[in-house]
Amino acid sequence: MTDIHCHVLPQMDDGSRSAEESLAMLEALAAQGVDCAAATPHFYADENSPEEFLDRRAAAAEKLAEVWHPGLPALKLGAEVCYFEGISQCKGLDALQIEDTGLLLLEMPYCRWSRRMLQEIFDLQLRPGMRVLLAHTERYLHWLQPETWEALLEWGVLNQCNASFFLRWQTKRKAIRMLREGRIHLLGTDSHDMDDRSPRLEAAWAVLGQKEREILKENVKRFLPGWEENGK
Ligand SMILES: [Fe+2]
Repeated sequence: MTDIHCHVLPQMDDGSRSAEESLAMLEALAAQGVDCAAATPHFYADENSPEEFLDRRAAAAEKLAEVWHPGLPALKLGAEVCYFEGISQCKGLDALQIEDTGLLLLEMPYCRWSRRMLQEIFDLQLRPGMRVLLAHTERYLHWLQPETWEALLEWGVLNQCNASFFLRWQTKRKAIRMLREGRIHLLGTDSHDMDDRSPRLEAAWAVLGQKEREILKENVKRFLPGWEENGK
């Protein structure tokens, strides 16, 4: 299994508070059978420039490297980039893509999206070598019209959903249906700690049938080339 969205880097955001907590999160992921994870700390353009963010991220990754050991998931560096006006023109954005994937994990506002916002997503999608992966898509379902989802899929925008979407009894059936219909591409834990927001990917996989698991494995091969090698 792979985790495409987690806040495992220490002291970067509201996720892990220390290298020890990061280690516990990685151990939990490893125990669940996760062999590769993307560390995706929040990026807010009004708090850091991309350069400042990358410096902070490198320092956090170094701290984590001191406690990392073989047997833990391989880590790829990325970011959960929060939408801002003008994002599609932002020069430093390429460096925030998830390592070796070209994917930009994009967190959108929790409201109805304006035409302009949608256009920015499409403009990002047109940038060479970039593909938008919406972070925890399940949180926007309420706000968007079916036509908008169709347009996003037609444009090749990918959807990441959190493991919790598959675990809540209220949403589980919907999550499985969306996965079968090709409306969910990748899963992430969006884990922040070892308390209320701990990694729970194994539990999410446990509710999936063979068919859904095959879909996810195919998607990992397709969108995260080389990642499955980490498990060998
Ligand atoms: Fe997140």
